[in-house]
Formats: sequence, C-alpha cells, structure tokens
Amino acid sequence: WMLYHCCFRRVNEPPLDIGWIPYIGKAVEFGKDAHGFLLQQKKKFGDVFTILIAGKYMTFIMDPLMYPNIIKHGRQLDFHSFSDTMAPLVFGYPPVRSYRSPSLHEDIQRAFKLLQGDHLCALTESMMGNLMMLLRQQHLGLKPKVGSGWKTDDMYEFCSRIMFEATFNTLYGTPQDGGRHGAVEKLRRELFQFDSWFPLLVAGIPIGLLRQAKTSRNKLLKNLLPNRISSWSNRSQFISRRQELVEKVDVLTDMDRAAHHFAMLWASVANTIPACFWSMYNLVSHPDALRVVRQQIFDVLKLSGVEFSVDKDVTLSKDFLDKLLYLESAINESLRLSSASMNIRVAQEDFSLHLKNERSVKVRKDDIIVLYPQSLHMDPEVYEDPQMFQFDRYIQDNSGKSVFFKDGQKLKYYLMPFGSGSSMCPGRHFAINEIKQFLCLMLLYFDLELDLGQTRATVDSSRAGLGILFPSTNVRFRYRLQKNI
Ligand code: HEM
Repeated sequence: WMLYHCCFRRVNEPPLDIGWIPYIGKAVEFGKDAHGFLLQQKKKFGDVFTILIAGKYMTFIMDPLMYPNIIKHGRQLDFHSFSDTMAPLVFGYPPVRSYRSPSLHEDIQRAFKLLQGDHLCALTESMMGNLMMLLRQQHLGLKPKVGSGWKTDDMYEFCSRIMFEATFNTLYGTPQDGGRHGAVEKLRRELFQFDSWFPLLVAGIPIGLLRQAKTSRNKLLKNLLPNRISSWSNRSQFISRRQELVEKVDVLTDMDRAAHHFAMLWASVANTIPACFWSMYNLVSHPDALRVVRQQIFDVLKLSGVEFSVDKDVTLSKDFLDKLLYLESAINESLRLSSASMNIRVAQEDFSLHLKNERSVKVRKDDIIVLYPQSLHMDPEVYEDPQMFQFDRYIQDNSGKSVFFKDGQKLKYYLMPFGSGSSMCPGRHFAINEIKQFLCLMLLYFDLELDLGQTRATVDSSRAGLGILFPSTNVRFRYRLQKNI
C-alpha cells in the first residue's frame, strides 16, 4: 500500500510526506501540536498535501476558500463510509450499512430530524426542567437566608456533573418515580473513563488490547440495555425512535442495541461538556464580557415578561434563547478557540477534485480528504488576534455577524465546530440551546469568580482531531447566590 502510494505518484497528485516511521508516519508530530504541525507542512508544501498518519493517507486542504468544493462533493466524497467503519470498532455494534439491516442507516439518519425543527422546542423545554431540578436540589439551597457564603468547586467537574445528568434525563428519560437515576454518577464516571481511551480506539488499536476500555464499555452497555431504557419515563421522541429502529432489526443482539444507545450518549455529551466548560470559563475570566452577557439576559427576561426569583422555576424557551445574541456570540467564540475536529471524507472513486479557480488535484479511490477547521479558526487573516477571546466577535450592528474574509474574499465557511455538509452534527442546535440554558441559569442565580492565583487555562491538544479540546489544567471557581434575587 505504501509502495502504491509513494512510488507510483501520479501526475497532479498532492505532495506526499510519509515521515520516517513505517505505518506511524507523522502521527507523533500531529498528536503533539496538530495546528502548529499543519502550519509547518503548509509552509513546505502549500495548501494541499498528503500525510501518512497511523496507517492512513490523509490529504489536508488548508485553504478555507477551497472548503465549499470539498463539502459539495456529496457522492464522490463520502463521510459515512469512514464513520461506519470507525464507530462499530469504538462503540461495539456491527456495521450499520450491512446487508443484514439494509435500511437502518437511512432510518437512523432520518431520525436525527427529531433533534431539530419543531422537536427542538420540546427538547429545550425538557432540558430546562431537568437543569432547574438539578440546580434546585443541589445548589439553590445556598439561598442567602440559609448560608450566604461562597462555595468552591472544580469548574470542569461542575459543568460535567450538571450537563451529563440533565442531558441524560432529557434524552433517555427518568426513573418511573420521576426522581433521579441512582447510578447516574457512576455512569458518568464510567463514560469518561472509556472516553480517555477514545484517541487510541480511533487510531485503530483494537479494543481487545485495551482491557480497561473494554471493561468500561461492557459496564456502560449493561446500563443501556433496551429493557432498562424502556422502563424509564419521559424519554425524548428521538431516543424512543432510535429504540424502535434498533429493536426491529432481528439480527442485532440486545448488547448491539445497547451499543447504539451508548454511541448516541457519547455523542451527546463528549463535546457538549468541554464546550460548556470553555464558554463558562471564558465568561468568568472576562468580567466585562460577563457583565454585558448577563445584562442582556436580564433585559430580554424583562421584555419577555418572564418572572424571575429564587423561589420560582424559570423557563427559558427556545424563542427566548434565540434573542441572546451576546451569549450566543460568546459561546461561538469559545467554540472557535477550543474546537479541533477533523472533517473527513473518503473518495469513492478515482477522480479529479476541483479546488479553486482552475486548480484541481487527482484523488484515488479510498483516499481520505481532510478539512481541519482549527487552522481556519486560528487564521489571523480571518480573525484578528485569533488567540484572544472577544466575546462579541460574532456581533455587528446589533445582530449576528456572519461575514468574514480571507484573501479579500468572503468565506462561506468561517466557523465549523459542528462539522460540515453531510457530516454536520445533527445535535448542534440542541447543544447550543442547552449550553445557553446552563449559562443563563448560572448567570441569573449566581455570582461567579475564579479562585485567585491560577494561571490562564489553555487547551490540551492531545485530542486534536477529535472534537472540543479539554483544558490542560484544573480550574477552581467559586459561586454564591446573588443577593438581589
Ligand atoms: C458542542 C457540542 C457538540 C459538538 C462540538 C459536536 C460536534 C460534532 C461533529 C464535529 C460531528 C461530525 C463528526 C465528523 O465529522 O466525524 C458530530 C456528529 C454527530 N453529533 Fe455532535 N456535537 C455536539 C453535540 C451533540 C449533541 C448534543 C448531540 C445529540 C444530542 C450530537 C449528536 C451527534 C451525532 C449523532 C453525530 C453523528 C452524525 C452522523 O453520523 O451523521 N452532537 N458532532
């Protein structure tokens, strides 16, 4: 395969760098600092080059003005042939597009509509109830009468505990008695234990060689068996539909079905939690931004006639959340700074890929084409001072800003934390809404401060390519109920 690629380069194929270590290629350099490494490669080879990374020949397209041509190549460049190979290895279900379940893939894709459009209102409402219930049970007891002092916590853990449980309840439902799932904390810990093996699993290491990952996965699957999920009330329509779809495929075992639920649970929290952390951290560490964002929340509350007091549950509907432009901009800015996903497409045949103007490159069947939006998000030509958090970067003339330029040309794609085209995240609107709801509640009810004496949190790049990056250090913060509510 290597000979095929290296010795038989065809005319007009991109330059190739396979590094010195067979199979591994440039994986180590990429893993250390993907963004810096790709910038160096770009200086050497230009905007389009192929690199060998952990056995895969990946052609990176670095110029964002070329992105539309890649994204629109629906048929020749396919996303799902990659995810259909990867996801079963990681989560443990048989490939979806197999001859034994011919319509399952299309049915699953269709069911993603239940995360969007009109269905989003019901999900958002349910998420609100779950967030409010958790806050009330765990944190609103800090009412000044009861105890006016500050409480401190680890910010990532705080976001993770609340967002995991509220998202889980919203999608999968709650126990029959309407209370909390007794084992939810164990489930959360197990999921993130498994998640720590995720980079190795995606790199192709068989789970059989990673004993702890396999044990974790088995425990998680047992918690998500169909008969358990069926016993919970207030399940989302989305999960109920998914449940029906996997139920009707006879060749699947219950563990296979649980693996489908596990994949969904992972997708719904693995990126949302770090995104939530970065949004909260960036606001709390920029008090001026926090003040503007909080003021707009209060102003919109007042205009919407929503009554707000510590004794009353507040409801923040989808329509309400849509009006919070400063909060939305601050979240988008946090996603820009922390997201490092790869948009992967696999060539379905040999063809000539048109890039920009008259330029095209030859692509072979099974070549992997990669967009790496972190390079776009950190491009000083597109974003001035790209390392800085500017909470209002996506606002212009009191409305959302969507015009950004590169080389004097307007960019069609300028912010891509949720992927693109056929691989665009179906949960993106729900994700943004739940992060907004969480932050609204935090800003409405609490004073928030970072503990003193901490260095600024930076991203840990070791998961580059896999989604939202984690912070490289723990962040301590303190919170107390606001006095005036
Ligand atoms: C800030 C939070 C989130 C981010 C940044 C994010 C990002 C992404 C990205 C980049 C992809 C494409 C992966 C690829 O190209 O390989 C993706 C796919 C996906 N996401 Fe999200 N996501 C988030 C939240 C959610 C939520 C809340 C849900 C569900 C409730 C969800 C469900 C999914 C699913 C099911 C897919 C696979 C779609 C398919 O196979 O066609 N995501 N997400």
